[in-house]
Amino acid sequence: MHVSFNLGDDLDAAVRSAAGLAGLADPAALIPEIRTADPRHGDFQANGVLGYAKARRLNPRAVAEQLVAALDPALAAQYEVGVAGPGFINFRLRPAALLGWLRAFDSAEHLRAGAATAHAGQTWVVDYSSPNTAKQMHVGHLRSAVIGEAICRLLEFMGARVVRDNHLGDWGTQFGKLIYGYKRWLNPAALQADPIEELERLYKLGHEATPDGSPELDEARQELVKLQNGDPENVALWQTFSSVSQAAFQQIYDRLGIRFDHHLGESFYNDKVDRVYRELEETGLAQVSEGALVVFHPEHPRFKSQPFLIRKADGASNYASTDLATALYRAQHFKADGIVVVTDFRQADHFEQLFLTVRKWFAAKGYPVPELHHVTFGAVTGEDGKALKTRSGDVIRLKALLDEAEERAFAIVSEKNPDLPEAERRAIARAVGVGAVQYADLSQNRSSNYVFSWDKMLALDGNTAPYLLYAVARIHSIFRRGGVAPGDPGSEAEATPPETAAELSLARKLVKFPDAIRLAGETLRPHYLGLYLFELAGEYSAFNNADKVLVDDPPVRARRLLLCARTLLLLETGLGLLGLRTLKRM
Ligand code: ARG
Repeated sequence: MHVSFNLGDDLDAAVRSAAGLAGLADPAALIPEIRTADPRHGDFQANGVLGYAKARRLNPRAVAEQLVAALDPALAAQYEVGVAGPGFINFRLRPAALLGWLRAFDSAEHLRAGAATAHAGQTWVVDYSSPNTAKQMHVGHLRSAVIGEAICRLLEFMGARVVRDNHLGDWGTQFGKLIYGYKRWLNPAALQADPIEELERLYKLGHEATPDGSPELDEARQELVKLQNGDPENVALWQTFSSVSQAAFQQIYDRLGIRFDHHLGESFYNDKVDRVYRELEETGLAQVSEGALVVFHPEHPRFKSQPFLIRKADGASNYASTDLATALYRAQHFKADGIVVVTDFRQADHFEQLFLTVRKWFAAKGYPVPELHHVTFGAVTGEDGKALKTRSGDVIRLKALLDEAEERAFAIVSEKNPDLPEAERRAIARAVGVGAVQYADLSQNRSSNYVFSWDKMLALDGNTAPYLLYAVARIHSIFRRGGVAPGDPGSEAEATPPETAAELSLARKLVKFPDAIRLAGETLRPHYLGLYLFELAGEYSAFNNADKVLVDDPPVRARRLLLCARTLLLLETGLGLLGLRTLKRM
């Protein structure tokens, strides 16, 4: 028998077809609205009868009963169905149906195949991390990197082809001052040892030496003009800045498990902005105002008077020009069905104006308009509620932050497991430390500010990486003790449907995995998946306390091991989608 990944989708189809069979007037207007039910009432609930009946002045309970009577009898083999309250239809999976789902989704491949329908065949470009070159990455770039990577993995899991694009800030007036400083005060050994540190020092010196109105500032501007006009020496310097910056960024990405497909920074769009100006003028969307080229959005409360500046009065391009060119390139070159840009909330106005402009521009030219999403996140603060800084008030370097995470995790692991060899404790600390930082970010609604707390993120209980990674390791240890591999088909063949209250409750949570994926993927909010995994680990732990797994009775042992194996599979798959590395032992 075919088993759907999203069980709710089957119910949706079944209720719709019952509406036709029951002879309802205008059956197409009945939207079932299947949702997860309060566990006391069932697994799923159809709420849509209420709205349908109300609009037609019918008795909703009577409509619900009519629908239930017309349901496909095959459904009754799968669910206990009942009408409750004013006209909700409740569905409770029968134990055999729970077992059916657990048997059907027994491997990462099968889960993937089940989930890969939502975005099947689509291409999504995700722009994340996107730091500025010649500068340290800071905590804000960490959030973008961690959230962006989780979104990429979720979209891929839902069937999309994902293009990971690091939109580096590699162009702008700051390069004049940097070249000015570089040509005078470079310390080659320092550049070797820590390139970004040295470039930041040189920029600072360049900046201090070129005060407003000084002849030195003119010289720095000349360096910029030379760079923009393709002067070979300055172009070569600029290329050095880009390549050493990218190499340094990659060290962070490696630790976070991130690989970009492209690093198409702002400079890549230099020769692509003229087309933007031309097309926006041609279509009447842009106009010249005080020498600058601007776009007004008359229908918008603020942007009707606060224009989107797309070319500066001196003719230079800006962040808006390159982002417009970027949108066109992504739509046409990558044939993107969706574009996601991940930055902090302070860029919200920029992206709102950008997307308004893009939609009108593409529509006017007859270009297909991709789905456009600005994924924002809040600030990172210390426990004092202020922006996260080092004690001396400097920005926190990501490298130092990840090092500290690993050190702290190492201390905890060593305390818990002093007997493990040091190399293994180090490896565990790497996964736990970096995972704790990633998960602290992903476990919260990204729109909120997030309070960075070592103690909270490294705690072994609560919605933390150590708690979830520990749950995974604990399940592995049961299989080691039982002398069987997780998911071993031979041992699972004997499993009977879940029976005890704890088994049933765990099984009911397991089959809800697709809901969590869908919610996280559709809203581009990974914390929904995190929350699900945390709740699943809680159900598992309740099951583990209530029912002994390695009992003698073969079918009971087999079905409990099957529940363990699926919990493990979903935890590992889910944590993998969030970008965490899981462990077999902790
Ligand atoms: N470089 C920018 C920053 O550091 C982020 C760029 C985001 N992407 C974009 N297409 N504007 O804030």
